[in-house]
Amino acid sequence: MSDAEPQITWLDDAGQPQHTRWRSLAGHPPPLRVVLADDTLSADAAFRLAQDGTGLLWRGDYQNARHLLQALGRRLDSRPARSGAPARPPASLTAIFLAQREAQARRARILGQVLLPFDADHGVPLRRAPDLRAAGAMAHGPVGQHYVGSLRELLGLVGSFEWRKKGVMIAALGAAIHPHHGVFSPVRGEYVDLVAKAPLPAAAARDGAFDIGCGTGVLAAVLARRQLRVTATDLSPAALACAADNLGRLGLAGAVRLQAADLFPDGRAGLVVCNPPWVPAPASSALDAAVYDPDSRMLRGFLAGLAAHLVPGGEGWLILSDLAEHLGLRSRAELLGWIAAGRLRVLGRIDTRPQHRKAADATDPLHAARAAELTSLWRLGLA
Ligand SMILES: C[S@@+](CC[C@H](N)C(=O)[O-])C[C@H]1O[C@@H](n2cnc3c(N)ncnc32)[C@H](O)[C@@H]1O
Repeated sequence: MSDAEPQITWLDDAGQPQHTRWRSLAGHPPPLRVVLADDTLSADAAFRLAQDGTGLLWRGDYQNARHLLQALGRRLDSRPARSGAPARPPASLTAIFLAQREAQARRARILGQVLLPFDADHGVPLRRAPDLRAAGAMAHGPVGQHYVGSLRELLGLVGSFEWRKKGVMIAALGAAIHPHHGVFSPVRGEYVDLVAKAPLPAAAARDGAFDIGCGTGVLAAVLARRQLRVTATDLSPAALACAADNLGRLGLAGAVRLQAADLFPDGRAGLVVCNPPWVPAPASSALDAAVYDPDSRMLRGFLAGLAAHLVPGGEGWLILSDLAEHLGLRSRAELLGWIAAGRLRVLGRIDTRPQHRKAADATDPLHAARAAELTSLWRLGLA
């Protein structure tokens, strides 16, 4: 075990401290206090412990642990967060959004306290536990040692394992893209169609294309199908492995060079495409960093560096939802200011309206923002 790997500690029945490795793909730290728990623990007692940040290391029946998780979820649904101040209706969409994020983070914190032991092969050594070793191995890879992790995270990775097997159909490719655990899934396909249909600048055929933050590799694949040589980057090793898998399946591995990079590879291209996370708010786990971009770091970095990576006559294509503008988290003037400061000008914009279910849900407190949301392909050139 390397020193960098976090450990979790608890007292066994004899009061002796026990330690083992802690694993969280979401990047959550281990709880500082952990108690052993089993089928005799009531849901109310479990809720109090979990709310106070105590991990419940389960050694009872696996299915009862799932029932306990559901019971904790029902308590969270029925009780508002504890707070000294009387509850007041939030004043704005920004306040509603921030309150929802806080409630989601609290929910994740509390439900994440139900912990399971795992064998080195990702099996769960508990009564009535299903065999989920394949899903664990796919998400964690080989670990070589038993560990403790959260039940909620296990259920999430089982869901993403099924999704990875099935894939997400991409009309523009006439094929499925298979998202790996923790890699942004192109379920909102409208933006992919924008990249498939926007007119290519002549410079792209000559000088190739960059795909910045390639995720599953879906946009790199679309550009390769448009006969471009592509270099695709990402910061996340999981994304790069996922993109390699998808490009291989599509027979496009030879057309796309994958590179680990913070934003741009070296050099210039005739087309530089980027679909950054679109909500400037803190990411509450490593897994939602593809949607939340604190302080618009990636967006601003892309706009600040783009001019230095374009050949004359080249274009940058920025894919961006305006949801953040409707939520009051970023203004159009700020976006245009960053474009101008990057020595860029807007050549054109192609808009599309997201089709996802949330946009049509009138009971969602953020409905006004979601219903107004547009996703755009901004065509940017050198000023
Ligand atoms: C919204 S996802 C888009 C993924 C893919 N291009 C698509 O359209 O489906 C943003 C991607 O940017 C990556 N990313 C975030 N910051 C980055 C950075 N500084 N440099 C490179 N990639 C980054 C994330 O890992 C994620 O895969």
